[in-house]
Amino acid sequence: MKVDALKKSFTKDIKGAQDVKSLEAVRIKYLGRKDGQLTKILKSLKNLSVVQRRKIGPEANALRQEIEKALNERLGIFVVKQQHLDIDVTLPGKKIPIGHLHILTQLENEVRDIFSRLNFSVVEGPEVETEYYNFDALNIQSGHPARDMWDTFWLNQPVVVPTTDNDKKLLRTHTSPMQIRFMEKHKPPFQIIVPGRVFRYEATDASHEINFHQIEGLMVGNGVNLANFKYVIETFLRQLFGADIEIRFRPSYFPFVEPGLEVDIKLSSGQEKLIASRKSEWLEVMGAGMVHPNVFRAVSYDTNKIQGFAFGVGLERLAMIKYKIDDIRLFHSGDLRFINQF
Ligand code: PHE
Repeated sequence: MKVDALKKSFTKDIKGAQDVKSLEAVRIKYLGRKDGQLTKILKSLKNLSVVQRRKIGPEANALRQEIEKALNERLGIFVVKQQHLDIDVTLPGKKIPIGHLHILTQLENEVRDIFSRLNFSVVEGPEVETEYYNFDALNIQSGHPARDMWDTFWLNQPVVVPTTDNDKKLLRTHTSPMQIRFMEKHKPPFQIIVPGRVFRYEATDASHEINFHQIEGLMVGNGVNLANFKYVIETFLRQLFGADIEIRFRPSYFPFVEPGLEVDIKLSSGQEKLIASRKSEWLEVMGAGMVHPNVFRAVSYDTNKIQGFAFGVGLERLAMIKYKIDDIRLFHSGDLRFINQF
């Protein structure tokens, strides 16, 4: 009977305990070593008759276990609550580091967008090319002195001798081989751009890298002419750099175009270092021209009906002008102080 009463009053007391301190008071009230109410009952067991002890003993011990369990559970709740109070919600949050697109990828996306709006399709091609696509089909047969314009990384050739001479493998020195690959499979009229990585086996300096990116352009159809080229390129450059950019067209030579030309952009203030190293305030950004008839012949187009222009623009060069970067080698340096600026 007494044990039952104790159980009831404990249940009431523990509900009333709202913090760690009052919980401790409840514990002492029932389980305190000296005067705990349950402790007293447990201590008095030895004075009881065997019959009474057999009845009350197990009841009292069960209650003790029950009380200890209830106290511990309640204590656990208070501790968790206290931890929440300890959180300083005014502290600045932890910044989760996330990556971003490399500046060249961002710029390439912008170039893709501009040409897409001009109704050009975007296609891509292989970085490992054959001598045929990189040179011969582009009117640069072996022995042609113009091959010296492209210092080439030749790959180890397969042990089995290639069936024809110009199956020899190399890292493409420009994106122009895609002109041939595309024209072999498509009929004009069309206009495409080909963004991609290219390789040159040459000494590096502030404006030359062995590994860089080009965007090839090719527009072919009946009556396509140099005025069309000038319009497309001026539109492209002004959209990319703003209407007041200064552009210069210069006669030049590439075996796969006739006439051939190069396009320069005037460097602005903030690029003194690059201007000084080049001794010129103009930076060439693309080679271009009207597609040479021999190139059309390589893909069996009728040179009497079909004309076209082609260009190859250097992506890094564009980035250097747009973001005033004075050394091309920074792009692939892996230097986060550079990368994170964009
Ligand atoms: N492929 C040339 C180069 O890399 C650039 C070019 C492309 C020139 C198309 C003319 C026409 O130097």
